[in-house]
Amino acid sequence: MKLKYFSHSAFQITTDKSKKIIIDPFIDGSPNSPVKAADIEADFIILTHAHGDHIGDAFSIAKRTKPLFICVNELANYCSSKGFNAHNMHIGGSYKFEFGRVKFTIAHHGSMTPDGTYAGEPAGVILSIDGKIIYHTGDTGLFYDMKLIGEMNEIDYMLLPIGDNFTMGITDAAKAVEFVSPKVAIPMHYNTFPVIKADPNEFKKLVESKGFKCKVMEFGEEISL
Ligand code: NI
Ligand code: MN
Repeated sequence: MKLKYFSHSAFQITTDKSKKIIIDPFIDGSPNSPVKAADIEADFIILTHAHGDHIGDAFSIAKRTKPLFICVNELANYCSSKGFNAHNMHIGGSYKFEFGRVKFTIAHHGSMTPDGTYAGEPAGVILSIDGKIIYHTGDTGLFYDMKLIGEMNEIDYMLLPIGDNFTMGITDAAKAVEFVSPKVAIPMHYNTFPVIKADPNEFKKLVESKGFKCKVMEFGEEISL
């Protein structure tokens, strides 16, 4: 399996069977994305919530590549109302798709589509794919239940925001890593806009000082998991 980081909270997972799962594809609006939305293929698109910097280019990618959207009920209904295929889920629920299992978690944040439609609760997502467990926290503040998530799941890769202002900043994110205890922490949601400027290497140092591993992915970098 491969994990590619576009920038912001946008990632691509390519499974061993070559299925492409895209998470929060905010691509063309991100000054840091080295790729264009027009070049992205998707079999599945997972949205953690409906803010513009997460829905991003999802619909333009979907028009071309006809993926299945996987999101919480209200947001899935919104995708369906735009003519796309969606699988409705909700927080606490998991479902086994052909590529692996998806479970939605809580996230402390908001969720409304750019056109003002209510999109349910924001979420994080735990993906069990090809023998590895990836936890993409979505946009969230720090919450103590992350400890429970870490207790009940042996997280291999935790993708979490460090940009502050809208989400956890570096100090809170490092505490989140302590709570979840992943094998590797990967920072996201930073340096896209001036207001979320943060130094990922400062986060890395702090995480490593607590005895955890951190991988700062370059924009456009792809790693094998
Ligand atoms: Ni957001
Ligand atoms: Mn965001």
